[in-house]
Amino acid sequence: KPRVLSGIQPTSDSFHLGNYLGALRQWVALQDVADAFYMVVDLHAITVEHEPKVLHERSRVSAAQLMALGVDPERSALFVQSQVPEHPMLAWIMGAQTGFGEAGRMTQFKDKSAKQERTTVGLFTYPILQAADILLYQTDQVPVGEDQRQHLELTRDLAIRFNGTYGQTFTVPDAYIVKETATIKDLAEPEKKMSKSSASPRGCVYLLDEPNQMRKKIKSAVTDSDAEVRYDPERKPGVSNLMNIYAALGSTTLDKIEAEYAGRGYGDFKGDLAEVVADSLGPIAARTKEYLADRAELDRILAKGAEKARQVASRTLAKAYKKIGFFPPV
Ligand code: TYM
Repeated sequence: KPRVLSGIQPTSDSFHLGNYLGALRQWVALQDVADAFYMVVDLHAITVEHEPKVLHERSRVSAAQLMALGVDPERSALFVQSQVPEHPMLAWIMGAQTGFGEAGRMTQFKDKSAKQERTTVGLFTYPILQAADILLYQTDQVPVGEDQRQHLELTRDLAIRFNGTYGQTFTVPDAYIVKETATIKDLAEPEKKMSKSSASPRGCVYLLDEPNQMRKKIKSAVTDSDAEVRYDPERKPGVSNLMNIYAALGSTTLDKIEAEYAGRGYGDFKGDLAEVVADSLGPIAARTKEYLADRAELDRILAKGAEKARQVASRTLAKAYKKIGFFPPV
């Protein structure tokens, strides 16, 4: 079985439709065919300003949401990153393999630091910690959205470099990116990717939104004036984004959608999509709440996940320690 690993930041109260279609849906599906490790990356979350109590709660809510979406802690290791100390330990080693200029080329760092008043070294070295996350598990495939491709390339480069210098230590991972849903666009500004930092509250559909809120956001999505449901991401980014969402959630195809709505305009199309979105995401909030009702049990599940993760991570770390000339971890 291939080894799969991925992570998500607990930086908001709810994940959004972009997270779901770009990554989390693949997390759930891959559990059937892979040996999967999924984590809530709280170490990454402290690289921007945060409130400790809020972070702690969000990590729990994040784990509960993942379970509500179908991540099954019996089959996959589901854990919180800070409970596995091997991550920052390997990150230090990988940092010593990374060129300063190489890290400086990361576009996500440039974007994020431009938005901050105060940029931390942690935000700069963030992709190195991500590389450590992945390499610790001898990962074959990493299900993510398009915005993580560059971090995956860095991870591969670092693995290849380390193996070349010190001898075979890490599996060189591949990004697992589903083309059609690699970048879900903001509903209000379809030139941008959907994100929690959307300028318009209507731009981003959250998994924990009320179904009616979801419907409203879909119905008020920015489209264009020619009123034709036709796939053309260049000239019709708004409609094309909605079609991608429809195809993914409604298990249909772009061709079928075009045929279905030929000559009918946007009203019918958006109305039907609003129902598809509300039907598929609506039940997540209640299921999340159920998992959150017993916090002690949730924390136990996460501790067990971390234990499972440490068994694999500690083996890889010991290997890397030996290769680089350290004393073994005790
Ligand atoms: P994060 O928390 O920003 O996002 C989680 C996942 O959601 C995907 N995503 C999207 N996909 C499609 N369309 C969108 N609009 C959209 N917005 C977000 C992201 O690509 C991601 O897959 N650095 C990572 C977290 C991380 C990680 C890792 C991932 C830390 N360590 C190891 C994989 C492996 C991040 O910030 O994701």
